[in-house]
Amino acid sequence: MILKEIETKINEQVFAEAKSSHLYLSMASWAETKGYAGVAKFFYLHSDEEREHMLKLIKYINERGGHALIPSIPQPLKVFDCLAHVFKDFLDHEVAISNMINGLVDLCLKNKDYTTHNFLQWYVAEQIEEEALARTILDKLKLIGDDKGGLYLFDRDLEKFPTDE
Ligand code: FEO
Repeated sequence: MILKEIETKINEQVFAEAKSSHLYLSMASWAETKGYAGVAKFFYLHSDEEREHMLKLIKYINERGGHALIPSIPQPLKVFDCLAHVFKDFLDHEVAISNMINGLVDLCLKNKDYTTHNFLQWYVAEQIEEEALARTILDKLKLIGDDKGGLYLFDRDLEKFPTDE
């Protein structure tokens, strides 16, 4: 049986992952309307991944005898200034998610819940990857600046981006 305090915190994480999925869907839609097909594809896929992260948490809570709660999700930001804005928000959001995961891991250790601690290691590894990915992309965008040809190639590269990362 999962501790109530930990169940509550994982339910907060469910909410955070749902919000991530929504935010990335909004980024995908904005990019699509601006003609950035590669960026749109990247965020549509990333939105799906966040939903998977959320589902994994929901199933874990219920498997351990808790009750996963399905939150209502506020409307995310719908208009972005430019691609750098989108990817800066992406990085900031992932850093915030990593902090939440770290807080959860810490809570598990304090309560000697080694089962949940073990379950969360997948999220710890995932966050390292996601933050690194966001930083790499943002660095590329900083190099490109306002160069239209560069942005065109950037978008085309993202279209070919591997779908399992
Ligand atoms: Fe589920 Fe991108 O954090």
